[in-house]
Amino acid sequence: MLRDVAAPEIGPGEVLVEVHAAGADPGVWIMMSGRPLAVRLAAGVKQPRQPVLGRAVAGVVAAVGSKVTRFRTGDQVYGTAESGSFAEFTRARERRLARMPANLTFEQAAAVPISAVTALQAIKDARVRAGHRVLVIGAGGGVGTYAVQLAKQRGAIPTGVCGPAKVSLVRSLGATDVIDYSQHEIDAHGVLYDAVIDTAGNRPLSLLRRVIAPTGVIALVGGGHAKGAILGGFGRQLAAPLISPFGRARVTGVTAREQHGDLDELTGLLESGAITPVVGRTYPLAEAADAMRYLEEGHPTGKIIILVRR
Ligand SMILES: NC(=O)c1ccc[n+]([C@@H]2O[C@H](COP(=O)([O-])OP(=O)(O)OC[C@H]3O[C@@H](n4cnc5c(N)ncnc54)[C@H](OP(=O)(O)O)[C@@H]3O)[C@@H](O)[C@H]2O)c1
Repeated sequence: MLRDVAAPEIGPGEVLVEVHAAGADPGVWIMMSGRPLAVRLAAGVKQPRQPVLGRAVAGVVAAVGSKVTRFRTGDQVYGTAESGSFAEFTRARERRLARMPANLTFEQAAAVPISAVTALQAIKDARVRAGHRVLVIGAGGGVGTYAVQLAKQRGAIPTGVCGPAKVSLVRSLGATDVIDYSQHEIDAHGVLYDAVIDTAGNRPLSLLRRVIAPTGVIALVGGGHAKGAILGGFGRQLAAPLISPFGRARVTGVTAREQHGDLDELTGLLESGAITPVVGRTYPLAEAADAMRYLEEGHPTGKIIILVRR
């Protein structure tokens, strides 16, 4: 439902962004639904404290606060918003914005902030190096499409796990091997990986441990938004430091930190063509509810984008 609301007011270290495109991801669905329940502590107990949804944004700077030094009116920027990006204007902290890659459309740029930043941090947390065998579970989704490309870009050997509809996409992103999970489970081939990046979050840890090399790292990114009333999939990520010492390999829970340093690094990789956003579907702002329903089904291809200005 579209509603007229006042443009957000910015503080000294903030930027008012005229939104051109916004990214939708499972985190938006979690904030909207208030599930799992633990999220309500941050998002609002009875209803969302922030009524406008959306965090990832690409747009044009409309105004800057008195302490902002890196941007001025008219700059094209992308990053993470504070006040909801499914809107014509949003408020963002300067430190969560970066200059938009010159070769991307707003639609493509809005596909980067949350998902590619998470993938980059997962690759770093999993200590992926050249020559490593890397298993990316959920390789056709928002985070996974970047994780495959970033692993490849580092000289690693990525294997993607996805459903049958995404096998050729995942291969085209640079995966050396692709496991179609409708045909084989991840331990079917007896391969041991140096890193497992799990964005799908629906396999038991015991199975992930069966495919990791003794010196490898299991990076838990996603938990599947429908599981567990109170903690949902977050429980496993939170428990990672506790369970890691008891068993083979290291287990780490990835918690994305949205800062411009990672976006600046991604800008370089995007402009050089080393990585490319995969935009699966685009919805106009008036149809954002349809985008959320599609996301809830749990099988999007790449990123879902809300187009605010054409
Ligand atoms: N830790 C953090 O800071 C952080 C940040 C961002 C996101 N996340 C979380 O990470 C997860 C993934 O995010 P996302 O944006 O990539 O979600 P997404 O775009 O919805 O992608 C999820 C992917 O998982 C695949 N999938 C579903 N069941 C699967 C299975 N059994 N085996 C392998 N793949 C399967 C889906 O496609 P197919 O089944 O068709 O292959 C889909 O492509 C979410 O739970 C999200 O909340 C965490």
